[in-house]
Amino acid sequence: MVELALPANSKVGTGKSWPKPAGAAKTKTFKVYRWNPDDEENPKVDSFEVDLDDCGPMVLDALIKIKNEIDPTLTFRRSCREGVCGSCAMNIDGTNTLACTKYLSEIGGDVKVYPLPHMPVVKDLVPDLTQIYAQYASIEPWLKTETPAPERERAQSPEERARLDGLWECILCFSCSTSCPSYWWNGDRYLGPAILLQAYRWIVDSRDEATGERLDQLEDPFRLYRCHTIMNCTKTCPKSLNPAKAIAEIKKLMVERKG
Ligand code: SF4
Ligand code: FES
Repeated sequence: MVELALPANSKVGTGKSWPKPAGAAKTKTFKVYRWNPDDEENPKVDSFEVDLDDCGPMVLDALIKIKNEIDPTLTFRRSCREGVCGSCAMNIDGTNTLACTKYLSEIGGDVKVYPLPHMPVVKDLVPDLTQIYAQYASIEPWLKTETPAPERERAQSPEERARLDGLWECILCFSCSTSCPSYWWNGDRYLGPAILLQAYRWIVDSRDEATGERLDQLEDPFRLYRCHTIMNCTKTCPKSLNPAKAIAEIKKLMVERKG
């Protein structure tokens, strides 16, 4: 008989419960994934009661309150608190999004908070982004030119500049890539929606002179073509961008340059 063993740390247990704060009239329960690489225990879900009358409106406000007032060991990334740095991306209530722009009022019942799915975890809500940043570096995300630089800037027409709209706004939060089943199963070889949107951002930049080379790099059954148009990426993007469309545009350019 075949024996299947779950990988170490894959079973999530029940963790600590912190009681309702004394005198709190309106509370919400936060179920938060916890894992500490130093204690050799499986992950657990801790339960925190937060006084909503003494808390900001966003999920990140509640996490900061928990860290400041209940458990200082709770670990998560955050910086800007206004949806521009991408560091607070996590899975909230079953959806990958930004904790700093997710309103508590949008969540009925308990607030379930997990790290971005299918990524190695560094600690608690912090995913290991080493590989995805290496994939980002692999697409060479900078302007590549042969033509000597003009005295002032490399100019673009309004139309050329407009082609970058819907692309430059990406904050590299990786909510999209970590919601993509193709990236879950083939993340070692498939670049995933975030990186392909970034690749397209340089491909369509009128000032860039390495378009052919960039397309050559993506012409691969895994790097590009593992996208099966599942659309989770576009559905989840907290900046309302459309990585699936960017990927489709790259595929179209591949066909056009052959024809
Ligand atoms: S496309 Fe959207 S979800 Fe994906 S990394 Fe960029 S901002 Fe985040
Ligand atoms: S803290 Fe910067 S995007 Fe949330």
